Amino acid sequence: MVDSQIIISNLLKSYSSRAEELTVLRGISFEVARGEIICLLGASGSGKTTTLNLLAGIDKPTAGKIYYDGKDINEWTTDQLFEYRLKEIGFIFQEFYLLEHLNALENVMVPVILQGESEEIAQDIALQLLNQVDLGRKALNLPQELSSGEKQRVCVARAIANNPSVLIADEPTGTLDSKTGDGIMSLLLHLAKKNKMAMIYTTHDPYFTKMASRIIVLQKGVIVEHNPEDFADIGYDKSKFEFLFKGENNE
Ligand SMILES: Nc1ncnc2c1ncn2[C@@H]1O[C@H](COP(=O)(O)OP(=O)(O)OP(=O)(O)O)[C@@H](O)[C@H]1O
Ligand SMILES: [Mg+2]
Repeated sequence: MVDSQIIISNLLKSYSSRAEELTVLRGISFEVARGEIICLLGASGSGKTTTLNLLAGIDKPTAGKIYYDGKDINEWTTDQLFEYRLKEIGFIFQEFYLLEHLNALENVMVPVILQGESEEIAQDIALQLLNQVDLGRKALNLPQELSSGEKQRVCVARAIANNPSVLIADEPTGTLDSKTGDGIMSLLLHLAKKNKMAMIYTTHDPYFTKMASRIIVLQKGVIVEHNPEDFADIGYDKSKFEFLFKGENNE
């Protein structure tokens, strides 16, 4: 077996809401090697966030397995899952999820304090991280006093605060203009390489596929793997990616 950090095996996820049952993932399997950069593509509603939530232990699959370092995370207790999310996974959420009543510094301090560090040490670490993402001068700003790009950088600092081994970024450039988006992607790649983290990110922008070592496309609940070159060949032309931009459930 290759040195896979994460093995996703035959993952199935259904949601039941009111009378309806919606199967989002119909048995997907892939592996994530240490330090690998994976781009997850798919139309809106194809199950990207669902997949990321499952592998971060935020949600449970209907069927199938997720192994982290050879261990089946579905067998873990709530406390073990909490530790896993806190120490191994750095998650940058599509909707930011910053605590609105805490300033940037305090938001970054939260995971460090949860890890058991003193407030003083957490503050030092958080400030260093905010400096790393070039936001030290806005450390005392509340989220509502930050631009989208700045909020995203606070999320990046918070995600890497406990030196995770896997960085998950759900549309990190989604709400940003292309220049700011480019800056965030470069920052994430730089941090992932520097800290030897595997990174899994989603995007709706073909341009941001070229940074990945592997591309996984989710379509109708199953996945197809691609080389980044497949995408380069068609020149990152958005029209060639039309299937990725249609709503999956509106077809
Ligand atoms: N908690 C839930 N209950 C019911 N349905 C859900 C739930 N979470 C997600 N879904 C449904 O699952 C499907 C996949 O959602 P998901 O958020 O994973 O899509 P996505 O690929 O991340 O889309 P986007 O690109 O818009 O972020 C959608 O049809 C959504 O409505
Ligand atoms: Mg999503």
